[in-house]
Amino acid sequence: MSTIDYSEKIPNNVDLANDRTLQRALEHWQPRFLEWWKELGPNDFANSDVYLRTAVGVDAQGWAHYGTVKMPDYRWGIFLADPIADRTIGFGDSFGQPVWQQVPGEFRSQFRRLIVTQGDTEPASVEQQHRLGNTCPSLYDLRNLFQINVEEGRHLWAMVYILHAYFGRDGREEAEELLARHSGDVDKPRILGTFNEPIEDWLSFFCFCYFTDRDGKFQLKSLAESSFDPLARTCRFMLTEEAHHMFVGETGLGRIVRRTLEVMKEVGSDNPEAIRRQGAVDLPLLQRYLNYWFSSSLDLFGSEVSSNAATTFANGIKGRPDETTQYQDHVCADSSFEIEVPDGKGGIMKEPSPMRNAMNEVLRDAYIRDCEIGLKRWNMQIKRAGYNFELKLPSNRFRRAIGAWANIPTDLEGRLIGREEYDRRMPGWLPSASDRGYVKSLMQRVVEPGKMAAWIAPPERGVNNLPLDYAYVQLN
Ligand SMILES: [Fe+2]
Ligand SMILES: [Fe+2]
Repeated sequence: MSTIDYSEKIPNNVDLANDRTLQRALEHWQPRFLEWWKELGPNDFANSDVYLRTAVGVDAQGWAHYGTVKMPDYRWGIFLADPIADRTIGFGDSFGQPVWQQVPGEFRSQFRRLIVTQGDTEPASVEQQHRLGNTCPSLYDLRNLFQINVEEGRHLWAMVYILHAYFGRDGREEAEELLARHSGDVDKPRILGTFNEPIEDWLSFFCFCYFTDRDGKFQLKSLAESSFDPLARTCRFMLTEEAHHMFVGETGLGRIVRRTLEVMKEVGSDNPEAIRRQGAVDLPLLQRYLNYWFSSSLDLFGSEVSSNAATTFANGIKGRPDETTQYQDHVCADSSFEIEVPDGKGGIMKEPSPMRNAMNEVLRDAYIRDCEIGLKRWNMQIKRAGYNFELKLPSNRFRRAIGAWANIPTDLEGRLIGREEYDRRMPGWLPSASDRGYVKSLMQRVVEPGKMAAWIAPPERGVNNLPLDYAYVQLN
């Protein structure tokens, strides 16, 4: 097992001290990263003491250390999961051959594009959540936000290491660009659409963690299968941290549902007006937020049929999540996948696509199944409380901006409808200006240890076995 050297300027388990050139290049990038963090990270809390976990090893037992730090002093480092002995390529044309320790020249630009796209999302989310801390519903939640922020910062480090170590000057230039693009910037926005949408309230934040970060999980899972072993190992370790981000999204939304059900019981009504008078989130409002973030996140997987997806799979660059355990055929040279596309006459038809070209859709399907798990749990809560309201994911055809369904008006069930009907009904499907205004009015910060805002129930337990009323953040 490799241990992490914390005496180094950049904590790492990649033996950086023995590669002076690389070490110097990364030490040159480090102050720029810190400048970026101080400018666009959670800088209203730069002096706060935050109870955070920091990676100290990469094995499953005890990989993290918990302690109180000021965020600008967080030890962002470079950690790769331990290598798997004699690992072979798990999919595509080179199936069964030894994995690569260097990037093959012919695949260099494809790898670079994927790594830069993944890397770009990490600082983007920190920028999106820049001011969110000011309206936290509790110190527990505030700490979780900051934990995610510092870890997204570390994920940026993870991608920058790969760029610096394996892509020479191009890689160093890309690493600079990762700090030059900014979420929502008119001239230099982040690469992917969803990562330019500001996250100004905590309902959006929990939806983002649940839906958008989950896309990140699926992208990381498929890159963890890559034949380029250092990339696979980097992504494997990132997934360890990512699990907490999923947890924050799922439990955050679950706690909102729980609080709403309590209020529904108290007032003896499920009328949204009555719920709102008590300062809670009515379930139809929550549903509109789910519709918004789910449909936006679906686009991140790309087009249903994609020659790019086919090449990255064929070349062993990007596999499917859990390639080894979930699939039998790892080559997919002559299998096919049925895709639903508009028939051009107002209907829907099924069209077979070569499996390799349909890899984006395969990933999106797996993602949708994963998204359903939380909804099942929340619906169970609702049912147990005696209400027959069901939260639902909209159809994957609804409100798409990329792929076969881009700009094709459908209702939430994915039925094709006219443009006029679509525009007319949209306010009932997505958060309206008044919904957003109401949610904004709920965002009053609560910073007394153990106290929760009125719109969210307390979590089941504190962080790392600490009590719920622990001062997870000392604001100073
Ligand atoms: Fe991340
Ligand atoms: Fe994340």
